Amino acid sequence: MKELRHFLSLADCSKEQILNLLRRAAAMKRGEPGKGPDLPLEGKSVGLLFDKPSTRTRVSFDVGVYQLGGHPIFLNSRDIQLGRGEPIRDTARVLSRYLDAIVIRTFGQEIVEEFARWSTIPVINALTDRSHPCQILGDLLTLQETGLDIFTMKAAWIGDGNNMANSWIYAAQKLGFPFVLACPEGYDPAVKPDCENVKLTRDPLEAAKDANAISTDVWASMGQEKEASIRRQDFQDFQVNHDVLKHSGDPVYILHCLPAHRGEEITEELMESEHSLIWNQAENRLHVQKALLEDLLSP
Ligand code: CP
Ligand code: NVA
Repeated sequence: MKELRHFLSLADCSKEQILNLLRRAAAMKRGEPGKGPDLPLEGKSVGLLFDKPSTRTRVSFDVGVYQLGGHPIFLNSRDIQLGRGEPIRDTARVLSRYLDAIVIRTFGQEIVEEFARWSTIPVINALTDRSHPCQILGDLLTLQETGLDIFTMKAAWIGDGNNMANSWIYAAQKLGFPFVLACPEGYDPAVKPDCENVKLTRDPLEAAKDANAISTDVWASMGQEKEASIRRQDFQDFQVNHDVLKHSGDPVYILHCLPAHRGEEITEELMESEHSLIWNQAENRLHVQKALLEDLLSP
């Protein structure tokens, strides 16, 4: 029997696994067949269980499952019994009897972990408060396809030490590229970097210095709406703008996972500049997730 594998965090992936997924995603994007069947998800159903809003993740998984020959089933957590208090362990065991894999977007990382403990089908993390591993796979593919060496590029994070920042830290730990995060005091990432190549500063210009990839994200994530106004004050010096760009390396690319708040964490000018990879970044969610689904579900 095939070993049951999940995709809950980049922390659980080896460097080789990450590189294989990126290789396969790039090949899929070029339209190259894999070693297995043309439609690796034929006859398979994949649940998309969402506890939070989504544009990119929801649509790219839905389309990706379809393109691989499978059947996506969108489940809003409010519309199923989970939303009325049915326990995760019961939901996981029941859905495992119908589905072949499940993609989950929720709040605590412990929710996807609990689901995976009881599930007999692969569970994919489509964002928790702690991490966003599918997004970082897409980001790495985006940088790699522009010609950056993802082992040596200098990457910077400017803004909140949130789910995205945590997953970037895991990526830097696995791949070894130098990574500097600039976060305001009180907003450090929950993941404590335990390697030489990851550093934390309070100075966005220091983070941007010589950077080839500068990434940011909203100041208030989903679930933090009530803190938006105080966060707007706390983050006002942490905008990705022209000043930041002046200190960066050459080449330099700007990333944002979207949705973006223009005029807050990033300027309109930079989002629309020649340095921005934001639209390719969004597209690449589709390719990396197809590679992931193929990997987890191929016989
Ligand atoms: N970047 C991202 O995950 O976008 P959505 O919230 O629209 O899925
Ligand atoms: N940090 C953001 C990412 C959205 C894709 C959030 O969690 O809302």
